[in-house]
Amino acid sequence: MGYVGLPLAVAFAAEGHDVVAVDVDRRKVDALRRGESYIEDVSDASLAAVAGRIEATPRFASLARCEAVLICVPTPLTPNREPDLGMLVGASRELAGVMQSGQLVVLESTTYPGTTRDRVAPILSESGFVAGEDFNLAFSPERVDPGRTDFTMRTTPKVVGGLTQACGDRAEALYREVCDTVVRVSTPEAAELCKLLENIFRSVNIALVNELAMLCDRMDIDIWEVVDAAATKPYGFMRFDPGPGMGGHCLPVDPFYLSWRAREFDMATEFIELAGKINQQMPYHCVAKVERLLNDASKPVRGSKIAVLGVSYKAGVGDVRESPGLKIVTLLHALGAELRYHDAFVPELPELGLRSASLDEALADADLALIVTAHPGVDHDAAVARVPLALDLRGVTRRSGKAALL
Ligand SMILES: NC(=O)c1ccc[n+]([C@@H]2O[C@H](COP(=O)([O-])OP(=O)(O)OC[C@H]3O[C@@H](n4cnc5c(N)ncnc54)[C@H](O)[C@@H]3O)[C@@H](O)[C@H]2O)c1
Repeated sequence: MGYVGLPLAVAFAAEGHDVVAVDVDRRKVDALRRGESYIEDVSDASLAAVAGRIEATPRFASLARCEAVLICVPTPLTPNREPDLGMLVGASRELAGVMQSGQLVVLESTTYPGTTRDRVAPILSESGFVAGEDFNLAFSPERVDPGRTDFTMRTTPKVVGGLTQACGDRAEALYREVCDTVVRVSTPEAAELCKLLENIFRSVNIALVNELAMLCDRMDIDIWEVVDAAATKPYGFMRFDPGPGMGGHCLPVDPFYLSWRAREFDMATEFIELAGKINQQMPYHCVAKVERLLNDASKPVRGSKIAVLGVSYKAGVGDVRESPGLKIVTLLHALGAELRYHDAFVPELPELGLRSASLDEALADADLALIVTAHPGVDHDAAVARVPLALDLRGVTRRSGKAALL
């Protein structure tokens, strides 16, 4: 019942289906029972509209009554950057204990090709039922983009790959309830890799423009002007903006699922590793730029008051997972800066002992304002005009020219 599961539950309930919403996190179950959403894209009003049709529970036993079960648990990396399928294995085991013949199970968690067939199917078969015979099994990647409003679950095509033709047919029929377009591929592996291709594509292109941003910094060329100009090409170019690095649960994590898997096939996926390396350098580049700006004003970082605007990994959401903003705050803190941050979407950063200040409080007496994430509702031009120095890592003030740019 996270960023992926909750919107799906609401979508199916809104189509009139009864939904069992299972999560091991009691706080989420309790919040859902109170009708309170904890995901930006799901309003309390949309939960209220389907109140009688979503049964939130920590008990897997309730899944026995369901015709279809969608697995949307996290698939993170271990500290050594290897796939951590612990939660997927755990959820699959719990499901195997209560499964019924004739059910459809679809894995939505992002993972390497082969997971559905080689890892999930054997665990579910511990139920005594055979995948593809006694129950249907498929993989369908999630394309939710938190904060996005121009494409919805209904208007975003859904890719589906079944273990058998019948598995795919059944999963396709299920998703047609909530998606206008279902795209069939022949296997779960093709669907698994499709998701990774989408995310690797973004990761590599973000890294490319970030590397150019670092080069432009040295060459004294405005990267934003270059990107704006390149984006006028009507074909063969797709715009990616530079920024402080990659965050969120997907882009910094998913590509490494494939590089791990590729090693079993004697392949080194160099684009993935290189993109990861460059994107990880970005927070260090941004902090070096802060140091230079302060240095030009004869100030050391130690003791300087820095107001950080936006710490989540992207505009309009409160997700701080893998956020480069956290890295930047940590690095500046280690250099002795006096930090305040303002982020209406992130009330506190407990691990850093910081609470979001109001914009006024954050900017009062600040030596430098640092725009890390440009949330809607903040007048960034006005904000940077109030402080002696400003660095804009998102290019949102580039027209006014009131801040230094990444
Ligand atoms: N967030 C996104 O934008 C996004 C987009 C596409 C794909 N994905 C993928 O979808 C999957 C889920 O991501 P998310 O962002 O929704 O994660 P999330 O952390 O928001 O939600 C996952 C939920 O699973 C629960 N959970 C953990 N272990 C469990 C278990 N054994 N049984 C039942 N519930 C369990 C957690 O408590 C949590 O509420 C991941 O594989 C992710 O890569 C995420």
